[in-house]
Amino acid sequence: MTDYLQTTRTAYDTVAADYAELLRDHLAGSTWDRAVLGAYTELVQAAGGGRVAEIGCGPGRITEHLHRLGLDIHGVDLSPEMVAVARKWYPHLDFHVGEMPGLSIEDGALAGVVAWYSIIHTPRERLPEIFADFHRIMAPGGHLLVAFQVGDEVRHIEHAYGHDISCDAYRLSPEKITEQLGEAKFSVVSTLVREPSEEFESTQQAYLIARKQ
Ligand SMILES: C[S@@+](CC[C@H](N)C(=O)[O-])C[C@H]1O[C@@H](n2cnc3c(N)ncnc32)[C@H](O)[C@@H]1O
Repeated sequence: MTDYLQTTRTAYDTVAADYAELLRDHLAGSTWDRAVLGAYTELVQAAGGGRVAEIGCGPGRITEHLHRLGLDIHGVDLSPEMVAVARKWYPHLDFHVGEMPGLSIEDGALAGVVAWYSIIHTPRERLPEIFADFHRIMAPGGHLLVAFQVGDEVRHIEHAYGHDISCDAYRLSPEKITEQLGEAKFSVVSTLVREPSEEFESTQQAYLIARKQ
């Protein structure tokens, strides 16, 4: 496993329980997040539905929300501790340990992939490998949802959710991600950039929905 995956896994293993508690009911107060997830669900369903995976699902709160909206969804995460929390909280859903790129999902299997703030720990030059892997596991016409913080900084995080950790988080450009998705043969169908609305957000937030060509 490459260094950045190892440090990211260790960081999320360390914070898993506290991260999960803090964010458990967060969606209830996030109008835009729920709007994006609702629109995404409608797009997947209108295209005929099918299996969806949340890659980098953490404690599974987004997976559960999308399940409640009607998607046939499971979760995958790098952090075994995060997967353990997700399995405990949402035992009716499937969660697996896995990493992007190199996902253990067969070619063309999915109608959708959700990467909700999970590409943010990947060095920018490695993102094309992840988008190629998403393209591989999705059926033609499938929908990809990517959420991330907007910017061009790399932040080294040494303390989070009450714990000392060490990992990097990359803010990203919606324009650059759109370009990289295009190179991976996705067409971006929607871009929402919203202003930071809460105390712990300090930058704009971006939500891109793209269709596999
Ligand atoms: C900020 S959390 C978001 C979790 C969840 N999507 C949510 O919104 O609550 C990022 C998650 O992505 C996972 N992650 C980061 N890089 C990953 C990778 N390369 N493959 C799989 N999971 C990854 C982390 O372990 C962590 O659980």
